[in-house]
Amino acid sequence: MIVVTGATGHLGRHVVTELLKKVPASEIAVAVRSPEKAKADFDGRGIQIRLGDYDKPETFGGALEGATKVLLISASEVGKRVVQHQSVIDAAKTANVSLLAYTSILGGDKNKMKLAAEHQETEARIQSSGLPFTFLRNGWYIENYTERLAGPLEHGVMAGCAGNGRIAAATRADYAAAAAAVLAGNGHANEAYELAGDASFTMPELAAEVSRVSGKTVAYKDVSVADYTRMLVGFGLPELAASVVADADFGITRGELDDASHTLSRLIGRSTEPWRDVVAAALRPQR
Ligand SMILES: NC(=O)c1ccc[n+]([C@@H]2O[C@H](COP(=O)([O-])OP(=O)(O)OC[C@H]3O[C@@H](n4cnc5c(N)ncnc54)[C@H](OP(=O)(O)O)[C@@H]3O)[C@@H](O)[C@H]2O)c1
Repeated sequence: MIVVTGATGHLGRHVVTELLKKVPASEIAVAVRSPEKAKADFDGRGIQIRLGDYDKPETFGGALEGATKVLLISASEVGKRVVQHQSVIDAAKTANVSLLAYTSILGGDKNKMKLAAEHQETEARIQSSGLPFTFLRNGWYIENYTERLAGPLEHGVMAGCAGNGRIAAATRADYAAAAAAVLAGNGHANEAYELAGDASFTMPELAAEVSRVSGKTVAYKDVSVADYTRMLVGFGLPELAASVVADADFGITRGELDDASHTLSRLIGRSTEPWRDVVAAALRPQR
């Protein structure tokens, strides 16, 4: 039985879709904090739905019952994640799974972003559990940009502190396909995969492409980390989240979200979706 945690999120839903292409539904379970939400998401697809709340370690005994492979999708609340992930690691150890896969961050222990610290600690804890593991070190989702184009299109400005750093982003669907390939396949134990899009872009290049496709001028405005943090707070982000996001954006200037290994396309057996196509799809009028 393959169990996917956090499966009602954007990435998790793609992972289930990809897994269903590779293994029978009867061999897939999701462990989620809201089984009701999962029922709505996965209705009629034949997979098992189990309660698995990262804040309630006691739920993971049942959630991982009979599990052979587990995908731990990293939790979403910065500052709480190491403790939350530990609930899953402990239960995976009790279930003696043959593989614990974890969605980590590009660069793993070399990544200097504040955002990386919880991933690094989680990787270390998984390694010290002694379980066979696979670290899926995901780069940025391209949707981080394409789902937030309304503001830049309205104001003509895309702000950040990423300078001319290159971003090898990929779609969540491509990262999910890699996770499914690992879970359904063999030979991935004790591997750390650096996963990123085949092609990279800079923020000025992204703004130029948005301008070209939309016909509206959108310029990239590079600001200091402090100014970007203040802007994000102004948009309603809590102070801590704003500083972590701005710090990550600045990490792009150090190349921390770039990767030319093509490991993602090798794992999924095809090229990653070109970033320009994702931008074009995001700007296509909805019918
Ligand atoms: N690489 C990137 O660019 C990038 C960007 C953003 C996030 N991430 C990381 O990647 C993860 C997956 O991305 P995503 O786009 O799928 O994020 P998402 O849509 O926000 O999904 C997060 C998932 O975590 C679940 N979750 C949150 N708290 C939980 C809890 N206490 N117990 C059990 N489940 C809980 C959510 O459950 P509900 O459905 O019930 O809310 C949801 O299923 C994120 O959580 C974050 O760690 C990566």
